[in-house]
Amino acid sequence: MVTATEIQPAVHAPRHVTAIVTGAARGMGRAMTLGLAAAGVRVAAADLPSSRAEMDELLDTARRQGVADNVFPVDCDVTRWEDCAKAVQAAIDRFGAVHGLVNNAGIRVLDADLTKGGRHGRFYEHDTETWRRVVETNIVGPFQMAKAVAPVLVAQGWGRIVNITTSHSTMVAQSFSPYGPTKAAMEAATVIWAKDLAGTGVTVNALLPGGAGNTRMIPQADVPDRSTLIQPEVMMAPIAWLMSAASDGVTGRRFIAKQWDPALDPAAAAAKAGAPAGW
Ligand SMILES: NC(=O)c1ccc[n+]([C@@H]2O[C@H](COP(=O)([O-])OP(=O)(O)OC[C@H]3O[C@@H](n4cnc5c(N)ncnc54)[C@H](O)[C@@H]3O)[C@@H](O)[C@H]2O)c1
Repeated sequence: MVTATEIQPAVHAPRHVTAIVTGAARGMGRAMTLGLAAAGVRVAAADLPSSRAEMDELLDTARRQGVADNVFPVDCDVTRWEDCAKAVQAAIDRFGAVHGLVNNAGIRVLDADLTKGGRHGRFYEHDTETWRRVVETNIVGPFQMAKAVAPVLVAQGWGRIVNITTSHSTMVAQSFSPYGPTKAAMEAATVIWAKDLAGTGVTVNALLPGGAGNTRMIPQADVPDRSTLIQPEVMMAPIAWLMSAASDGVTGRRFIAKQWDPALDPAAAAAKAGAPAGW
């Protein structure tokens, strides 16, 4: 009988990768879920129970595209530790394993705060509750998801953590707190986690669209002509590469999806769109 201590870490990528995508129901998360599913990755699509209608739309699209078997919806509020632990277990129960995490769920400000200082308010006009909630969602949430999944990834000797951050200019743009500081924190966390997991077979990278994206996060009133925004589909090719064996050993880097050139082979596209994470 093989005991736990005799199990050696896998040195090769799994045949079928399973990943958890948080904030999967709409926007960037939906595009990455569909892109991964089309690439053969089995995805636990995690989002708030309040996003059920958007999750149903995602599942309908997955059905139409013939990839519904690769998408499994999971209720998960990343600010709640029990939900994060349950999401990891749900992925394992459904697909038999988990190999990757895409920390995508994120918010900018609370709707209630829009009336007090608003999206464009000065930092001192925001409620403390808004700061707490954005920090909880954008920093504590990704940490809790990574904390829940990392021991599994390290034990199996192969894994992927991808943090969705933002452009450097957004991190320090006027009026962009608390959002900008939370994304800067996740960029720093990407570098630190990559160092902590060096040599384990688990990589940690950041991925960002490279500008304002056509999602609910950028309100219609701010940008009426949506064709001028980055379309969420730009995230599909880089996330599929990051979740594959082709990116083995690539860690501590940031990839700008807008700069990913689909005409190049993925390694060349990654070299062009990538740089060390951080500053
Ligand atoms: N849209 C942009 O311009 C842009 C630019 C750079 C980076 N990003 C990043 O992309 C990511 C996705 O944002 P988006 O633009 O698709 O926004 P979005 O508002 O369309 O989607 C965010 C998703 O996260 C979910 N979510 C929110 N709080 C959650 C929680 N506590 N637990 C689980 N899920 C939660 C929402 O239900 C929603 O499905 C975010 O991390 C955001 O910071 C967006």
